[in-house]
Amino acid sequence: MSHLSSSIALWRGEHVNFATLLALLEDQLDLFHQAKKPDYQMMLDIMFYMTHYPDVLHHPREDLAFARILELEATSRPIVDDLAEQHVRLKDFGGVLVRSLENIVDGSITPRDRVEVLGRAYIAEFRSHMRTEEEAILPLAAKLLSAADWAAIGVAIRHIDDPLFGAKGQERYASLRQQIAREARASQARRLSGVGR
Ligand SMILES: [Fe+2]
Ligand SMILES: [Fe+2]
Repeated sequence: MSHLSSSIALWRGEHVNFATLLALLEDQLDLFHQAKKPDYQMMLDIMFYMTHYPDVLHHPREDLAFARILELEATSRPIVDDLAEQHVRLKDFGGVLVRSLENIVDGSITPRDRVEVLGRAYIAEFRSHMRTEEEAILPLAAKLLSAADWAAIGVAIRHIDDPLFGAKGQERYASLRQQIAREARASQARRLSGVGR
């Protein structure tokens, strides 16, 4: 795979990972909504990751890619500005959710309904953000950015390994990784049993 298409594939792959986590988070909010017991520690692990990988690497790397796209295609300004603003908002929003979940896990008194409202709003905003990127910006990036542009972005950004999905996963995400693997097996089993009918 060329450097160029691998950059786009990596980008899309990260969105798939984030979508997996948002679905897990949504399942937990559904449990809460049904007055069942959600796994607050898992929700915190998910949001901790969202504020320590997407906010720290994925979005800053996009900001650089968007800036280069804007240099090459001036008409992309409104969408690039919107997406950059959403990065700032998602980061703030994610921080608020982490603090609320930390309070719950630590046993402080925190209105739990607020976590559901915030969590659902975060999920909706993150999904719509990724949808806009996939529909409007990834095709432009694929068309406009050269291998040299991607190399320059790679140099400009401080690289960190993905602490959850990366090869050297961090210990703090061990149980979240197991949960993701369990979900993947369960959904594969559902697909297989669907085919058998
Ligand atoms: Fe983004
Ligand atoms: Fe993105």
